[in-house]
Amino acid sequence: MNVERTKVAIVGAGPSGLLLGRLLERHGIENVIIENRSREYCESRIRAGILEQVTRDALTEAGVADRLEREGMVHGGIYLNFNGQRHHIPMDELTGGRCVTVYGQSEIVKDLFAAREATGAPIVFEAEDVSLDGIDNDEPVVRYRLGGVEHEVHADYIAGCDGFHGISRDAMPDGYQQLYLREYPFAWLGIMASVAPSTDELIYAQHPNGFALHSMRSASVSRLYIQVDPNDDIANWSDARIWEQLHIRMATDGWTLHEGPVTEKSILPMRSFVATPMRYRSLFLAGDAAHIVPPAGAKGLNLAAADVIVLAHALADRYSSGSETGLDEYSDRCLRRIWRAQHFSWWMTQMLHTNPSEDAYGQQLQRSQLEYVCSSTAAAKSLAENYVGLAIEQAVSA
Ligand code: APR
Ligand code: PHB
Repeated sequence: MNVERTKVAIVGAGPSGLLLGRLLERHGIENVIIENRSREYCESRIRAGILEQVTRDALTEAGVADRLEREGMVHGGIYLNFNGQRHHIPMDELTGGRCVTVYGQSEIVKDLFAAREATGAPIVFEAEDVSLDGIDNDEPVVRYRLGGVEHEVHADYIAGCDGFHGISRDAMPDGYQQLYLREYPFAWLGIMASVAPSTDELIYAQHPNGFALHSMRSASVSRLYIQVDPNDDIANWSDARIWEQLHIRMATDGWTLHEGPVTEKSILPMRSFVATPMRYRSLFLAGDAAHIVPPAGAKGLNLAAADVIVLAHALADRYSSGSETGLDEYSDRCLRRIWRAQHFSWWMTQMLHTNPSEDAYGQQLQRSQLEYVCSSTAAAKSLAENYVGLAIEQAVSA
């Protein structure tokens, strides 16, 4: 048995756990990250790639934004496509100059791993049978097995950053958390294609055949999505069939979608989920462990970053001044921002997807909503301010 002691034990090396570990290191707070997959697996997991200014600033503050500064693509707007027409939403103009940055989540994960490797801060990969103990008597321990040896990490606090399918949420007592869930009758089929993007900014398209999105990863890699049935099988979708639907759903006069070799394709489930409160005694949940949004608002990564920014500050206060106020307020502060993003993500989802069970009346409401967003400055401004993201103070001050 190998026994270790640290201040904060972090379960999970996704964006939440890695950024939290990095921010704590910058505050001089010792921490250990325990991850049950390999580094290669974590680095190759493909996820969304839109960063709010707050997220970008946090990565800069964490000293891991050099490559992001060079390779990230700053976008000041998005396009909405419906009824064969394309409309531009100039988010920067509508929000006093705020923008988003397109930079893949897997690249952020790589940059955070490299930074951790450089400082030598402890991180365990491929930990088996990870479990939490001692939460009830405030002597929290993370246990795991590695290469046949049992390990125990004793900590002051545990940060559950282990995603939607992790074990931390379930370590809270039964019935302690209130769970909120909304499932949708659609999923996204995503492809990565080796072809220059056919657009300068993202295109979100609503079409009777279903939603489509044109995003990108670089000047030579496009990321595209189409709405499919959640029970559909990827084997039913040849590359040719996917491109056909992308052409149909995003069609607009005078514009051409360029095709290229598909290097990855998968179907992604979609749900809205919140578990509250996000703290039980010395256990704090952050990121996907506590909440999930459907991807149409591009909020998942940004919410994860906002959680750990708040948590890192609260822990820094606790260790520098002994004040527990920040820790006590953690859950409520995060949840105000989370519910705003939950609403925005739900709102974008219902505005842009084709719901197979929607009646003709519902279809007319959807069309009217899209027309309103594309013709009223007030409506466009509301979309823009949510999309670029609220300042942390705005979302967290009561
Ligand atoms: N023990 C240790 N690690 C675990 C365990 C476990 N039992 N279960 C899961 N993990 C790891 C996963 O392998 C993963 O590396 O926890 C990490 C969780 O990472 P994410 O799922 O990426 O969650 P998070 O870091 O909160 O990031 C949220 O992910 O889903 C997207 O859009 C979302 O961008 C957002 C981001
Ligand atoms: C992506 O680039 O993967 C992406 C972009 C915008 C979204 C969702 C995903 O809303």
